[in-house]
Amino acid sequence: MREKSAAASNPDAMSGATPRSHIVVLSGAGISAESGIRTFRGGGGLWHDFRIEDVATPEAWQRDPERALGFYNVRRRQLYSVEPNAGHRALAGLERDFPVTIITQNIDNLHERAGSSNILHLHGALDKARSTADDALIYDLAGRDIRLGNTCELGSQLRPHVVWFGEMVPELERAEEIVRHADVLIVVGTSFSVYPAANLAFLAPSHARKVLVNPEIPDTVGLDAFECIGEPAARALPRLAEELRKR
Ligand code: APR
Repeated sequence: MREKSAAASNPDAMSGATPRSHIVVLSGAGISAESGIRTFRGGGGLWHDFRIEDVATPEAWQRDPERALGFYNVRRRQLYSVEPNAGHRALAGLERDFPVTIITQNIDNLHERAGSSNILHLHGALDKARSTADDALIYDLAGRDIRLGNTCELGSQLRPHVVWFGEMVPELERAEEIVRHADVLIVVGTSFSVYPAANLAFLAPSHARKVLVNPEIPDTVGLDAFECIGEPAARALPRLAEELRKR
């Protein structure tokens, strides 16, 4: 994963949703903003108070694992004091009428707690830990902290099950394949700052209907194929879901 370097672009024509259209959602931190979870950039963003190099890179982990663990422990505890918002719930409700796949850059569990059942976490999950000896050993934390000395069954230190800057995004190919088969693509709450996740928004087929939901439409190149809704997710998504149902 890396911060934005070059914008992608392949604008295509728009078209409507048909019954049983496969709806694919690409969500970012903005969809959880109205639940009280801080975004990363823009006003009040997390990266204004913390340096990525100190808490969210493999080098940070090697240099000061306790600091990295503390950063994620605080965010995990907060997770259990917030609730999904109307935006998460609207996306979950779409599953009653359409096949829906949510590809999220978020590590919170608000899509799950809103009732969505088909979720791909591109950047990992805050409520899971992973062995530092074997990536396949993943453990549910259920809100518990990870501390130095907490080990996996092989005796190795546990780490947050998240993708740090500079690490590979293991689920990327699966996510690309999903977007390539979207009939409707909803991109909500992302600044398109981080690649390769941001590039997913440009892989939908030309026939797909593309909708962008963000109160501050990013200046990213290639968005002219998108219907842009310059509103917060908790207001825009319930209306969009209703409109999709009526089509
Ligand atoms: N509804 C919809 N969008 C919103 C809302 C809202 N209520 N509030 C803010 N936003 C938008 C902002 O305008 C911004 O474009 O959400 C976006 C949040 O951008 P970022 O903070 O950069 O979050 P994101 O795009 O998810 O970051 C990508 O960067 O730090 C890494 O791993 C981290 O997954 C994250 C990745």
